[in-house]
Amino acid sequence: MMRKKIVAGNWKMNMNFDEGIKLIENIISKINMKASLVDKKDTGVILAPPFIILQKASELCFDNQMISIGSQNCSQHEKGAFTGEISAAMIKSTGANYVIIGHSERRKYFHENNETLSEKVKLVLENNLFPIFCCGEILSERKSGRHFEVVKKQLEETIFKFNKNDFQKIVLAYEPVWAIGTGVTASPEQAQEMHNFIRELIKNNFNKDIAEQTTILYGGSCNAKNASTLFANPDVDGGLIGGASLKADDFVDIIYSF
Ligand code: 13P
Repeated sequence: MMRKKIVAGNWKMNMNFDEGIKLIENIISKINMKASLVDKKDTGVILAPPFIILQKASELCFDNQMISIGSQNCSQHEKGAFTGEISAAMIKSTGANYVIIGHSERRKYFHENNETLSEKVKLVLENNLFPIFCCGEILSERKSGRHFEVVKKQLEETIFKFNKNDFQKIVLAYEPVWAIGTGVTASPEQAQEMHNFIRELIKNNFNKDIAEQTTILYGGSCNAKNASTLFANPDVDGGLIGGASLKADDFVDIIYSF
């Protein structure tokens, strides 16, 4: 079985309700236009808008074969007195299917550590949602040649602790922090090298079949111009797109970059 290719849009804290609905409607109509020309059944699209749009987004995409909806975060707690938090069960109840966990912005600005992230992944899986788990080094770590070691530790302390059955539900995203929102993309060689390294780790930690079937996305200044050279690498199975996912034309071009 070939692993799935995915293009996911992480909208971050952008788009109010009406803007978000318009963007989704635009993306759907552009995909429908292209779909009549090019068959892309092997590519999945995930839209991760802010929480307030999840339910309406799920409704709009309900009968679309290609598009699924995801949230950008969830609480590490199941339920209760955690003012302002959103649980995995609540996300599930909107019709969404995916949850981004461990984005570097969550790690940096909200101090989420590997322990918290493991709790979140556990709840996501318990609620029959699929985690999109992010990893990636900061610039100083790459400059000092520690990027492999850093990513290895991020994975070993979190998703590698889950059993095979659970691990197979996880989508990985390698997002070098120095490439996020900076306009500096990892070179296709840098992306391939790290993705291959991650796949080897999965093989050693689980087995070859699981490694071959795990989808590993690249994220960090991926856009309509550079997506095809990044996606052309054998271990790059798609992208987690920030800025360029907010423009329907660019995002749909990225989906059709394989
Ligand atoms: P940019 O595409 O804006 O660099 O963001 C990438 C990202 O963080 C996706 O999660």
